[in-house]
Amino acid sequence: MQQDLPTSSPNNSSIETRLIHSPATSGEGFASAAVAVHRASTTYFPSTRALREQDWRDESRYSYGLHGTPTTLTLAQRIAELEGGAKALLLPSGLAAISLVNLAFLNPGDTVLVPLNAYSPTLAMARSMMGRYGITTQIYDPMAPDTVEWTASIRLIWLEAAGSITLEFPDLNRWIATAQKYGVITVLDNTWGAGLAFDAFALGVDMTVHALTKYPSGGADVLLGSVVSRDESLHWTLKHCYSQLGMGVSPSDAERVLRSLPTLPLRYRQQDQTTRQLADWLQRPERQSELLAVLHPALPHSIGHEHWKTICNKHLDNHNISQDNQNKYHQGKAAGLISLVFRPEVTLDQLYAFCDALRVFRIGYSWGGPVSLAMPYPWQEIRASVPEGFKGSSGILRLAIGLEAATDLINDLTQAWPSLSNLGTTGTAP
Ligand SMILES: Cc1ncc(COP(=O)(O)O)c(C=O)c1O
Repeated sequence: MQQDLPTSSPNNSSIETRLIHSPATSGEGFASAAVAVHRASTTYFPSTRALREQDWRDESRYSYGLHGTPTTLTLAQRIAELEGGAKALLLPSGLAAISLVNLAFLNPGDTVLVPLNAYSPTLAMARSMMGRYGITTQIYDPMAPDTVEWTASIRLIWLEAAGSITLEFPDLNRWIATAQKYGVITVLDNTWGAGLAFDAFALGVDMTVHALTKYPSGGADVLLGSVVSRDESLHWTLKHCYSQLGMGVSPSDAERVLRSLPTLPLRYRQQDQTTRQLADWLQRPERQSELLAVLHPALPHSIGHEHWKTICNKHLDNHNISQDNQNKYHQGKAAGLISLVFRPEVTLDQLYAFCDALRVFRIGYSWGGPVSLAMPYPWQEIRASVPEGFKGSSGILRLAIGLEAATDLINDLTQAWPSLSNLGTTGTAP
C-alpha cells in the first residue's frame, strides 16, 4: 500500500529543509512480524493529478490521517478477518462504535430495539440521545421473542450474546431470522464472543460491534472499538457518517492491538478455562448458604444455556480442552465472565465488604485484560425488572477472569468469603 513519493530534497537545500524532506520510508527488504506505527495528519499526494483523482472509497490510497494510515487500516483488515465480515471501521472506543451504527442508520420516526440486559450505555444512549433525534426505543426481553410486535417503524435491532452482566444467551438464530423476515437491520455486540466463540456472520447478522478494549487489546491499557459489516454497502453507509463525524483512531493504540492479536485465541481459551474452574468451586455445597445462583452460559441452569450449546459448541474442535475437563459443561467456548447472585440474607454492604477484602481481584470495570476484576451491581442499577428467581437478592457480582493462576483466584475468594456473612472483621462497606 506504499505510495510512490518523492522522498528527498535537492542536496543544496538548507539543513532545515533537509531535516524535513529526507527519505522517510523503511528501506526495501525490511520485513518483520510487527506492524510499524504510521502516524499522520497530513499524508502527501505524489501530484495534483493524484489528488484530484483520489476516490475516497479507495482504501489502498491515503488521503488524510483521520481516514487511515497503514497501521490503522491493517488492524481494520485483521478485525474484519477475525469476525468473518467484509470490512471493518475502527473507532475510539466500543461505545463510539455503538453510536456510529445508531447515527448512520437511524432516522427520525424509526424505532430501534434494544435488549433489556444490554451493556447499560447502549440502553442509556437509545433512551436519551436517540429520543432527542425523534427515534423511538423499544426495550425487549431477549429471552422472550414472542413478546415483540414487529411494527413497520422498526429499522434496527441490537443483539447481545451473552447479556452484559446477567449473561443470558438468547436464541440468536430465531432473532436474526425474524428480523430478516421484517427487513430489520441486525447488529450484534460481539465483544463477549470476540469473533472466537461463534461465527456471527454465519448466523446472518448484518454488522457486529466489538469493544477491542477487551480481549483484542488484552492489556487493559487501550480503548478502541470496531464495526464490521457483512457487505460493502453497509460499510460505505457507516464510512460516510464516520467521516462526517470526524472519527479516527490513534495509530499507537492500533499498533498495541495488532501486537496482541496473535495471542487472542490463547488468552480467550485460558480465561475461559480458569473461569470454569472457578465455576466448579463456586458450585460446591459449602458456598450455597450465600449463593442463589452462579451465572455462566455453559452452566446448565444458566438462562439460555441451550442456545449457547447450539451456537457455541460448533467450534469445539479448536478448543483443545483436556480429556479430564470434558465433563457436561466443559465444552464450547465462552468469555471469562461469571456472575454471582447472592441470597437475600447477604446485604449490599456485605457484598461490598467482600469486594474490598479481595487481594488478587481488583475492583474495576471492563474485562479481557490480564488482571481479574470484581464489579458489584445493585439490581436497580442494571435492570428495570429483576428476574423472577432472583427477587429479594440485593445485587449481583460480576467477576471478569484474568490470566492469574486459578488456584490464586480461588484462594482469594476463599479468604474474602467470610465477609459475606460477617461484616466488621474485614472493615465497613462504603
Ligand atoms: C458488551 C460491551 N460492549 C461495549 C462496551 C464498550 O466498550 P468501551 O469501553 O471500549 O467503550 C463494553 C464495555 O464495557 C461492553 O462490556
